[in-house]
Amino acid sequence: MSARKIIIDTDPGQDDAVAILLALASPEEIDVLGITAVAGNVPLALTSKNARIVCELAGKPETKVFEGCDRPMGRELVTAEHVHGKTGLNGPVLPDPVMTVEAQHAVDFIIDTLRAHDAGTVTLCPLGPLTNIGTAFEKAPDVVEKVQEIILMGGAYFEVGNITPAAEFNIYVDPQAADIVFKSGVPIVVMPLDVTHKALVTPSRNDAFRNIGTKVGTAVAEMTDFFERFDKEKYGSDGAPLHDPCVTAYLIQPSLFSGRHINVEIEATSELTMGMTVADWWRVTDRKPNALFVGDLNSDGFFSLLTERLSRL
Ligand code: BDR
Ligand code: CA
Repeated sequence: MSARKIIIDTDPGQDDAVAILLALASPEEIDVLGITAVAGNVPLALTSKNARIVCELAGKPETKVFEGCDRPMGRELVTAEHVHGKTGLNGPVLPDPVMTVEAQHAVDFIIDTLRAHDAGTVTLCPLGPLTNIGTAFEKAPDVVEKVQEIILMGGAYFEVGNITPAAEFNIYVDPQAADIVFKSGVPIVVMPLDVTHKALVTPSRNDAFRNIGTKVGTAVAEMTDFFERFDKEKYGSDGAPLHDPCVTAYLIQPSLFSGRHINVEIEATSELTMGMTVADWWRVTDRKPNALFVGDLNSDGFFSLLTERLSRL
């Protein structure tokens, strides 16, 4: 089978960085047409810079990186330096990128790429707020039917919220964009907190990254060293959850994951529950299923895949 063509839409973020490294390490399965940066964990200038730092860390400076929206479609930007640090990529000391950003706006890159490909041949992989994708769908509704699938990290059902009591960060930052995406009719795979909180970097898993003994292995271990302090302090968990790599791992080995095909709608009006993913996990309505909502993963399989692939870079 030929490699699946994808666009990674991202706000790096240490876990975004690991997701990108996994994709770039897996050319047999994944063909990264471009990386589109969006404002999220940190402002756009930093997410764009971090995306390029990660491509250079991977030894893939030929990867195209585009800058997209610097704020959500209808709200003020909320960032997450309290989790990811001031730069978004705190932890390892990595050189500033030599790569430059592409001149085209990320939203136009997404639109043009979809228009240039046959329907059903390009997959979108959002790892941050859905602003670039929502804006592309609003600006060019004709591209919606060309998307093969959207595989995204966002939302929660059992785990509910990590930025408010009701909402997960990526969906909360731009609920309007998320609403557009979930109503688009494109087949969606959702990696919510319910599954990503099971992708925990325990001390022995982080040792495995460090023991790869390469620049990439060391950088990933150092990112985790930084990133895990938040979850350990806040939730008393065993280590850092690798949210976003669930998306790229799914592209390589979907059998690691299981979930339910259900209806998911986005709360975009009530301030109290803004950004909540109203997931009909128990199928208590007759609303039409629009997403595969993932609930579980084979975490040992996930970490062995990740460690093996990172060691290729
Ligand atoms: C999501 O929010 C960000 O902090 C992470 O990069 C991940 O995409 C988890 O809620
Ligand atoms: Ca992210």
